[in-house]
Amino acid sequence: MKITAYGVSTEEQRIFEKWQATHPDVTLQLLPDWLTAANVDLAAGSLGISAFQTGQYDAALFEKMARLQIPVLAIRNVGTDNIDFPAAAQAGIQISNVPSYSPAGIAEYVVALALQLLRRLPEVTTLVAADQLLTARGLTGRELSRQTVGVVGFGHIGQLTAKLFHQMGARVLAYDAYYHGAEPTWLRLMPDLPSLLAESNLVTLHVPGVPANHHLLNATNLALLPAEALVINTARGNLIDTPALIAALKKGALGGAAIDTFEREDQIEPAVQQQRPITDPLYRELLALPNVLVTPHIAYHTNVAVENMVQDSLANLLAYASNGQLQTPVTH
Ligand code: NAD
Ligand code: COI
Repeated sequence: MKITAYGVSTEEQRIFEKWQATHPDVTLQLLPDWLTAANVDLAAGSLGISAFQTGQYDAALFEKMARLQIPVLAIRNVGTDNIDFPAAAQAGIQISNVPSYSPAGIAEYVVALALQLLRRLPEVTTLVAADQLLTARGLTGRELSRQTVGVVGFGHIGQLTAKLFHQMGARVLAYDAYYHGAEPTWLRLMPDLPSLLAESNLVTLHVPGVPANHHLLNATNLALLPAEALVINTARGNLIDTPALIAALKKGALGGAAIDTFEREDQIEPAVQQQRPITDPLYRELLALPNVLVTPHIAYHTNVAVENMVQDSLANLLAYASNGQLQTPVTH
């Protein structure tokens, strides 16, 4: 049996190779490039493909997979917003993701971002680098235990994030459009997004970047936040209307923002890959703001997560090989 993995980093390669040692019956082909219709031919003869990328999985790719008789795509991450599901269904391709490779890692990252914003560390580090230490000393921080944190999306990551903020003494609110579970004693579930925003000094997004959630935080919703509120986005870039966020930061309505997932991630990716300067004007405008922290979509990136991503993606492919069923199939 042959499996081809795309988008394999050096770090992942070691994990794939360790797995290979215990699965001598599988021929594993490891490729560094993202999966596209242009390079899927390399997977000919594979039972399935394992892939990891923020780039699109489009109709041309699925049509070619069908022609090559590769029935399965097992992505190694959570988000499925970059997959053309109708096209996959049309071509008869089944898809799995890894729904919970390490939500704790992402939750911890959100807390790290929150503490940096509350203590104004983006401004402090810029001032220190410019030898403005006296000015840096004058910046007053805020304490997490005095904040109300609004968690948007109470799924795998949102729930753990809420729990960490609660454990650190914050008052925690959450809003989830589809959650029907019980309300934990230590958290208030809000009936809608506006009521959550109206009370949150810090809002953190944990919903998928599906079209229905496009610009969930727009100028109108951002205006509902209390003065100097902080915004954290580790979910998907399209959830925030970035020009509206920048405008709110510039006029001082918001106190700061941390953006791990930037709205125009796709557009800046070629420059990222080639280590060229990023010239996108929206990205530069965001980066130039003193109270903004930008990170390159790395909230997920821990040793635990990477190991689980590889293992669980391969487990999906092995399950399909043995009984025709994926362990964690996704259809939207
Ligand atoms: P999940 O499916 O477990 O939870 C998402 C929750 O959002 C669900 O409970 C759903 O009901 C809710 N939801 C959907 N639309 C909503 C809306 N409009 N308003 C309120 N609630 C809504 O997913 P998860 O594992 O918690 O991951 C969330 C997202 O985080 C992923 O879709 C992915 O885009 C992103 N992510 C980012 C990174 C990173 O490295 N930055 C890593 C992993 C996941
Ligand atoms: C996800 O798992 O959905 C992520 O956002 C990680 C990413 C690098 C693809």
